[in-house]
Amino acid sequence: MFVVQDILKTKGNEVWSIAPDTPVGEALKLMTEHNVGALLVTEGERPVGVFSERDLARGLVGYGDFSLNTPVSTLMTSPVITVTPTTTIEACMEMMTDKRIRHLPVLKEGNLVGIISIGDVVKGMLRHKDNTIRHLEDYISGTGYGH
Ligand SMILES: NC(=O)c1ccc[n+]([C@@H]2O[C@H](COP(=O)([O-])OP(=O)(O)OC[C@H]3O[C@@H](n4cnc5c(N)ncnc54)[C@H](O)[C@@H]3O)[C@@H](O)[C@H]2O)c1
Repeated sequence: MFVVQDILKTKGNEVWSIAPDTPVGEALKLMTEHNVGALLVTEGERPVGVFSERDLARGLVGYGDFSLNTPVSTLMTSPVITVTPTTTIEACMEMMTDKRIRHLPVLKEGNLVGIISIGDVVKGMLRHKDNTIRHLEDYISGTGYGH
């Protein structure tokens, strides 16, 4: 079964996060610096929201007093939907589609161990399907499985 841990193995465990009172301008700088489309918002170790490019876009048009000094807590998506290392990729895709979210923080026994994005999921799915096809081709042509 293809699960979140398989993605983290190649992607790594790094999570870029910020505090809820971080100004939007500072968050955008961090996103650019690390080339990511979202930041996890944490209170201590606890994830309390996700601040993404989409939240910014919504903030720009929908929030009257918006400025680069606005705290991310005003615009972030909350509560946070999380997965675990053993969640299947199909379940992640379903959550992302149903809830219209693009990032899922990964918690193992309550501790943050990573974050996966919609791009990671699609890329992982394609790689997984390629491998399955290769195994089946090997099986059919007799080059694998002990032949
Ligand atoms: N080269 C790769 O390995 C790779 C992986 C995923 C996405 N992408 C490309 O990046 C573009 C945007 O991707 P996306 O829409 O999935 O979102 P994104 O730009 O937020 O994600 C890009 C990568 O950054 C990681 N990331 C995002 N937020 C993070 C955070 N706070 N802490 C740590 N890592 C974080 C994601 O897990 C993903 O691997 C797309 O063009 C996609 O094809 C490339």
